[in-house]
Amino acid sequence: MKILIVYYSLDGNTKYLAESIAECVSADVLRLMPIKDIKNNKMKYFFGGKQATMRAKPELKPFNLEPEAYDMIIIGTPVWAFTMTPAVRSFLNKVKLKDKKIGLLICHRGGIGKTITHMKELLEGNEILGITKFHEPIKGEQDKNEQICSWVQSLIDKAQLNFSE
Ligand SMILES: Cc1cc2nc3c(=O)[nH]c(=O)nc-3n(C[C@H](O)[C@H](O)[C@H](O)COP(=O)(O)O)c2cc1C
Repeated sequence: MKILIVYYSLDGNTKYLAESIAECVSADVLRLMPIKDIKNNKMKYFFGGKQATMRAKPELKPFNLEPEAYDMIIIGTPVWAFTMTPAVRSFLNKVKLKDKKIGLLICHRGGIGKTITHMKELLEGNEILGITKFHEPIKGEQDKNEQICSWVQSLIDKAQLNFSE
């Protein structure tokens, strides 16, 4: 089964989890990069929050892999203004995923709002196998490798079960 981890990260939390997954299962990783990203300074909440609220879809730097060629896609996003990040919104609008096994990986600081609902809307026609949420994992004392790896393994088990049905 071909697995892709696609994610956006500004402060490193989602990046840490995406890279942890790639260390425990065989998967390709795609980090989404807007051509003009917001600056990571004090104003990020204002500009990032505004973009997310306005449902902005910033243009992404080109990537040279085909998400359509994967069986399972894990989509990682931080929560911005109670929804997914603009880069992930751009990705889900640009790449029309269909009949994929999907895992949603969400990093937040306590208020995920409508993130899951909004992502599910853009992922209609795919099968969401699991959703996991982490509260700023790089701030925690324990590393989260084991937790994220067993989550991904549970998705793989589910996907394989469905394949054999
Ligand atoms: C622009 C912006 C808006 C945010 N809005 C929310 C929010 O609505 N709810 C929440 O729980 N966390 C919010 N956060 C916190 C991030 O979701 C959290 O720090 C996450 O772990 C960041 O992931 P990253 O390190 O991969 O960028 C926001 C952060 C930023 C920069």
